[in-house]
Amino acid sequence: MTPPLPRHSRITGTGSFLPPNRVSNAQLAASLGADGIETSDAWIVERTGIRFRHFAEATVTCSDLGVEAARRALAAADCDPQAIDLIIVATSTPDMVFPSAACMVQEKLGVHGCAAFDVQAVCSGFVYALSVADSMIKTGLASKALVIGSEVFSRILDFKDRTTCVLFGDGAGAVVLEASDTPGILATELHADGRHVGILCVPGTVSGGKVLGDPLLKMDGPAVFKLAVSVLDSVARSVLAKADRSEADVDWLIPHQANIRIMQSTAKKLKLAPEKLIATVDRHGNTSAASIPLALDEAVREGRIKRGDTVMLEGVGGGFTWGAALFDL
Ligand code: UT7
Repeated sequence: MTPPLPRHSRITGTGSFLPPNRVSNAQLAASLGADGIETSDAWIVERTGIRFRHFAEATVTCSDLGVEAARRALAAADCDPQAIDLIIVATSTPDMVFPSAACMVQEKLGVHGCAAFDVQAVCSGFVYALSVADSMIKTGLASKALVIGSEVFSRILDFKDRTTCVLFGDGAGAVVLEASDTPGILATELHADGRHVGILCVPGTVSGGKVLGDPLLKMDGPAVFKLAVSVLDSVARSVLAKADRSEADVDWLIPHQANIRIMQSTAKKLKLAPEKLIATVDRHGNTSAASIPLALDEAVREGRIKRGDTVMLEGVGGGFTWGAALFDL
């Protein structure tokens, strides 16, 4: 008897969605200034590369943004939503404590019965979710997955803390990942180091009907910066080795969009030409788990990333978590 062919997973469609309210650095600086918080367009651009971010209306939730991105990815993949048998949402800002945002996306899509759950790995969330979906497809647990990164980080920002509130924005990105005879996802790699929980966190929770602790984002920016630069380099090299590829094989690098300085340093260490770096941080800010699929979708729709190109995704964030995925589109 001939052994069964190896099962691969392949991205067949991408989609994204940004809430319409686009806020420039100057607009944000003016509104913070009214509360006595000093910042400027010049500081934000120079230290981060960010020029704009989008903020969702108060009634718009993580699953609202996620389902729009999912619909666009399904259309791009020419995939009937009813055929989806797995939904994973990467988020740190779900609609409720429970159930998951993935169950809400499922309900909004009108597809019922398939597995649906959230992955919480902060800004590494999309790479984690993609890796889980890839594993589930390769082991036969799923055949057509929706993998979504969706965030409303504006809900957890402290607008009295200029060191963090200028950095983040809201948005969603999604891919359809399908079983395939040919690869696809070549390799993924995931890591976490809980010793660094305190450098990027929202140290609050709900208990006994009250918010316990502080429900707003805290970050030791320089500590996160230092760690991010180091782990992004090592994980890029190990995912390439796992896939038996080299730096020269990478057509496009899509790191988590947190800071243009970290992203450029990562590309430089890998000896990638600057034009191979996909950067949307200037227009989106840091959208945590949504940043990578948002950037991927924009680059695909602009015709930069094409079928057959080799793409490296790299996530890094709270936990501390980090990871990478290498795929042929
Ligand atoms: O999403 C997960 C991953 N996150 C990241 O990768 C973020 C990593 N960290 C960073 O991107 C950077 O550390 C930041 C952009 C957060 C900060 O940049 P930095 O170059 O590390 O600045 P800093 O924190 O060392 O602050 C430099 C100065 C300080 O003033 P003094 O103490 O030198 O007088 C800050 O108070 O800049 C000041 N500052 C600001 N000034 C104007 C901090 N935030 C602002 C601001 N506007 N918004």
